[in-house]
Amino acid sequence: MYHDFNYEATLASSLRAQWQLDDVLREEQELDFTRNFMPESLARTAAVATLNPFEQRILNQISAHQYLGIFGVVEEFILPFLVDHARPHLLGDDWRVRAILNFASEEAKHIHLFKRFHEAFVRGFPVECAMIGPSEAIGAEVLRHDPLAVGLVILMIEWMTQAHYLGSIRDDGDLDPLFKSLMKNHWMEEAQHAKLDTLIVDALAEGRTEEQIDKAIDEFFEIGGFLDEGLKAQAGFNLDALEKAIGRKVENRDEIIAQQHQAARWTYIGSGMVHERFKATLESLSPRAAERIAEAAPVFA
Ligand SMILES: [Fe+2]
Ligand SMILES: [Fe+2]
Repeated sequence: MYHDFNYEATLASSLRAQWQLDDVLREEQELDFTRNFMPESLARTAAVATLNPFEQRILNQISAHQYLGIFGVVEEFILPFLVDHARPHLLGDDWRVRAILNFASEEAKHIHLFKRFHEAFVRGFPVECAMIGPSEAIGAEVLRHDPLAVGLVILMIEWMTQAHYLGSIRDDGDLDPLFKSLMKNHWMEEAQHAKLDTLIVDALAEGRTEEQIDKAIDEFFEIGGFLDEGLKAQAGFNLDALEKAIGRKVENRDEIIAQQHQAARWTYIGSGMVHERFKATLESLSPRAAERIAEAAPVFA
């Protein structure tokens, strides 16, 4: 076995790590719009040389708006995936039932928290920022795939939040403390989710032939390609919002869209693809699966 995760121990650490919404952001709390919200390792907005520092910060905040929206969307498909996975086994192992339902309940809380941050963002930001969607349609497209492929996409997302948290604490300290706390608290619970999702993927892969695993990896790439298209469209929306907020058209629009799309690829796909734990799960499914995903990873770097 390449890991020692189990439902009982993971549930116990989940219950210890749990926080309440108000511990992270109270309903009336305001974000500090004089600061960046996203770590530069993810937003890459300081790298846009044609924007002045004020404009770079506006784009950084738009990138944080995207973060809230994208996590809102993905957690909205994680929730039904978990409920569907738990449903047939409700009379089985009690630790498993409780751990998975607790996992689902934490994701529902995260959806709630991301919405609360979104409301605070809208209160403080001068213009409206558009998001891809609707989230139900995105979720339905993802969930029509083989559950093993969906489970792998979710596992990649769970592990990537570690990279996000590390990015936010390594940052120079000029980040809005509430956003920093969002990254930290989210990761604290995601760390257990990643373990549980590893167990879910193990269960979904059990008894599959090499060929069936390979088909699931095809579907993993289909979902990844679909999400990537969404990120590309979102980069365009982000530039629209930037131009509205700074009151001028940027001259190298396409170049900035491509650069910001690449930043989003790393944030929402690549940083999970290269995570050691994610790679270990792929390796255990089939070395070929690990190889295929490793070959694709540089596109999302
Ligand atoms: Fe979450
Ligand atoms: Fe999660």
